[in-house]
Amino acid sequence: MNVRATAAVRYRWRWQFGVLVAFALCSAPTVAADVAVVESPEKVLRVTVSINGEGRVGYRVDRLGKPVIGESRLGFIFADAPKFERNFAMVDSTTRSADSTWEQPWGERRFVRDRHNELRVRLRESKAPYPAATAREFTVVFRVFDDGLGFRYEFPDQAALKQVNITDELTEFHLLDAQTAWWIPAGEWNRYEYLYNRTPATEVGQAHTPVTFRMTNGLHVAVHEAALVDYSAMWLRRVEGTRFKATLSPAATGPRVQRTAPFHTPWRSLQIAERAAGLYMSDLILNLNEPNALGDVSWVKPHKYVGIWWSLHLDTETWSSGPKHGATTANARRYIDFAAANGFRSVLIEGWNLGWEADWFANGESFDFTKAYPDFDLEAVAAYGRSKGVRLMGHHETSGFASHYESQLGAALDLSARLGIEAIKTGYVADAGGAKFLDPDGTMRFEWHDGQAMSRHHLKVVTEAARRRIAINPHEPIKDTGLRRTYPNWVAREGARGMEYNAWGSPPNPPEHEANLFFTRMLAGPMDFTPGVLSLVGRNGQKFQSTIAKQLAQYVVLYSPIQMAADLPENYARYPGPFQFIKDVPVDWQDTRVLDGEVGDFVTVARKDRASEDWYIGGVTDEVARSLEISLDFLSPGQRYRARIYRDGDGADWQTNPHAIIIETRMAKQGDRWRIPVAAGGGFAIRLEALQ
Ligand code: NOJ
Ligand code: CA
Repeated sequence: MNVRATAAVRYRWRWQFGVLVAFALCSAPTVAADVAVVESPEKVLRVTVSINGEGRVGYRVDRLGKPVIGESRLGFIFADAPKFERNFAMVDSTTRSADSTWEQPWGERRFVRDRHNELRVRLRESKAPYPAATAREFTVVFRVFDDGLGFRYEFPDQAALKQVNITDELTEFHLLDAQTAWWIPAGEWNRYEYLYNRTPATEVGQAHTPVTFRMTNGLHVAVHEAALVDYSAMWLRRVEGTRFKATLSPAATGPRVQRTAPFHTPWRSLQIAERAAGLYMSDLILNLNEPNALGDVSWVKPHKYVGIWWSLHLDTETWSSGPKHGATTANARRYIDFAAANGFRSVLIEGWNLGWEADWFANGESFDFTKAYPDFDLEAVAAYGRSKGVRLMGHHETSGFASHYESQLGAALDLSARLGIEAIKTGYVADAGGAKFLDPDGTMRFEWHDGQAMSRHHLKVVTEAARRRIAINPHEPIKDTGLRRTYPNWVAREGARGMEYNAWGSPPNPPEHEANLFFTRMLAGPMDFTPGVLSLVGRNGQKFQSTIAKQLAQYVVLYSPIQMAADLPENYARYPGPFQFIKDVPVDWQDTRVLDGEVGDFVTVARKDRASEDWYIGGVTDEVARSLEISLDFLSPGQRYRARIYRDGDGADWQTNPHAIIIETRMAKQGDRWRIPVAAGGGFAIRLEALQ
């Protein structure tokens, strides 16, 4: 910005401050006038946009005539320009309706209906001190569905605000009547790997999204965002009572977001459902994302994998070289044989590349993504895999040193493609705020895992990988905002406490963990949870808080198009009965129905195989033993099914008898109602095979 412009801004700022004081002294709080309204297609939701006497823009949301989101303001604070908060008038507003159905290349359901009404409201600064010639403007766009809504800001190309340096967003969410919240802290030392808090809504601090609320009347609302591209993640901060505001993940230096107009923000989303189950049934997040930008993605293969992995977390083998090195040629061949014998498409091998010595958490610069340890013959292992029809799954742990990874990205991906690798698990182990970028001038920047720098980094990796027909699965990632629709090679990610916490977590994942995840983290998209540890024992004998049947349920409940069978081959050999379910269960679905559930208590889900007429059902409970009722209304009329049921055995309990399991067969047809007993910390899994 040149000196004259700076002076002008300062002058304007002082002027505005004067106006502010005048307002505060002379005028009573001003009443808002409604300027635009839009309803959802079936008139379930209504969004009203208002502008008050100070020119402050707000919105509110009603559901079936009852207020859900009270008057909530919109706006921005800029680093080098007066904020967008007051003095706006509407220029015009337009509405539009859309109803289309699109097909997912893979997913929880094959066809997704996108039916919404859109409202665009153009707003311009209207009052002194802004002469018409320099008045700035923005547009807010609402897309309103029957099960939720999204809204985003568009910054048009304009001389008065070309380079946009955002200090923070002023977007509010006044969740009237919010009673209970399920949330994890944002801006803390860890990224997303926290146990979920269940607190009164008035006790939320600063949370990552999705945050799930239950209102006093039983309504459920989840706040999240969609299409987080070249922007900082939105955290949700409680201001007072049940009024929340967006706050953006910080940047190492300067404004939290730096963009050049024209551009638009991610969508701020609200899923609103009568029952908890309805939150998960909503396709809002995907619908708010752009269509597939990659064209033919038949090379993205949903599949199950095994790997040299659990032993590393048990510390019986190591990532680094030495006597306990896990990634040896011989061990890799053993896993490839196991994968080939049991129908797994790929084998993840962690610790194959140079750089894991000593304190790897802190030394991302030592990783080499093209050089293998001497006791791991990469070419020979890949060739052996190919001879058995098994691919390697790549592994690139970066310890959060993103720019170091980018400096080797092309070479690393080229090598992977040449070896026939179809998917790469990446990793960003570093404390939150500890992702690193070394600038060309030698300055090291420490960024948040979900700031604008990392949002750019992840898309760079995903798009570079797509050019080589490789899928990406980041751990310690940026949160999911539905970008898998646009980039279907972004198959999964971690972004919550996964199975590894049962190995060494203190405490391990509690019995309610899956029932929490399902209604919070899983609303964002697929998770590489790495399920299925049937041995139920972590490092130094640490006990899981799960029964064996619940490990099977995870495959149906916790969706991902890539699912690991995370346990050691020798452990699967000890439990051939339950292991059969892991071999049978698909990872790609034609349809998904949430049958029942309460956040943090229990959930039952049915999913139909994408490749057959078979259905699968999974159910999990928390620490409370229950009898879960399932209604098989979703089955096809007239069709007979053979059900293979894997359920907690008599006396099963995560603490005293976790391995007790009953595996039984019975016939099923549409309309049947079953009660499945589940133990404390337990669950069940069912395969419903359609008979000819
Ligand atoms: C953390 C990941 O979640 C885990 O799966 C992986 O084994 C380690 N980082 C090492 O990359
Ligand atoms: Ca992790």
